[in-house]
Amino acid sequence: MRIGVLTSGGDCPGLNAVIRSVVHRAVVDHGDEVIGFHDGWKGLLECDYRKLDLDAVGGILARGGTILGSSRVQPAHLRDGVERARGHVAELGLDAIIPIGGEGTLKAAHLLSEAGLPIVGVPKTIDNDIASTDVTFGFDTAVGVATEALDRLKTTAESHQRVLIVEVMGRHTGWIALHSGMAAGAHAIVVPERPFDMDELTELVGRRFSAGKRFAIVVVAEGAKPRAGSMEFDEGGKDVYGHERFAGVARQLSTELEERLGKEARPVILGHVQRGGTPTAYDRVLATRFGWHAVEAAHRDEFGMLTALRGTDIVMVPLGEAVETLKTVPAERYAEAECVL
Ligand code: F6P
Repeated sequence: MRIGVLTSGGDCPGLNAVIRSVVHRAVVDHGDEVIGFHDGWKGLLECDYRKLDLDAVGGILARGGTILGSSRVQPAHLRDGVERARGHVAELGLDAIIPIGGEGTLKAAHLLSEAGLPIVGVPKTIDNDIASTDVTFGFDTAVGVATEALDRLKTTAESHQRVLIVEVMGRHTGWIALHSGMAAGAHAIVVPERPFDMDELTELVGRRFSAGKRFAIVVVAEGAKPRAGSMEFDEGGKDVYGHERFAGVARQLSTELEERLGKEARPVILGHVQRGGTPTAYDRVLATRFGWHAVEAAHRDEFGMLTALRGTDIVMVPLGEAVETLKTVPAERYAEAECVL
């Protein structure tokens, strides 16, 4: 069998572990040939690739990022490129393509799969918002990075009697904010799933100071927005890929809280540090398992499917199902966090 693998969309700790696992399972156990397309779908559309053997994946398990490179492709560009992609798959004699990616990548994978290409998807995202899998690799690492940052920020906030508003990633969902906020004992957690009321947030933070505490930490997911009419808010716009280009919720919240509370407030934007660097052991294991199962699915001709974690098992889920909705933070999960704020 000849397998093509690619990583697309925002990078994520654990991508290299999937690539390594695919190569080991395919080349060593099945005697397959594996090629890696460069920079995501772009590599497939431009037929830009290299052969992946055991040497090529040596020493990459603990390395962040992706040895293949990644990029985002505009949906219209990909739609126009379906025939080109089909031509390259035929030319290269590929029996399977394993795209590793998040929401956008999986939608593209579904599109190509519907067009008849032999696709087995692998979900990735630090945001943990792919509905069909209990967890995506990268999330555990990102939560660890954010939690460590929050622990550190607490000591400087306390020294200066400040409110620190810490913006973590999470375009549509607040999983990183929820988990890092719970793990670090944040004093308020703001997620996109629950538009915040500025009066309530001010009261929550203000109560801490009234109770004699010297500082407060607010964790906010980058995609969070205030309840309509609760404060003036610049939502930003969209980039060429249709993704939100946020105007900075932490910055806007800190200005508002400083004015309302009369306490010094500072925004801290963790940004891409949450995506970089070495994956945790959990993410390496999950990524390795996904790679193994993706190869197995290809050998069973189980195309149009996605690897997913359900409980402790890896199962295969139809790509169409995986791209239907995002996995948002349910109210009960938020309530568990709210109780310890
Ligand atoms: O989807 C993963 C993610 O890290 C989001 O949390 C974030 O909004 C986005 O990617 C950032 O993307 P970019 O690297 O294009 O700035």
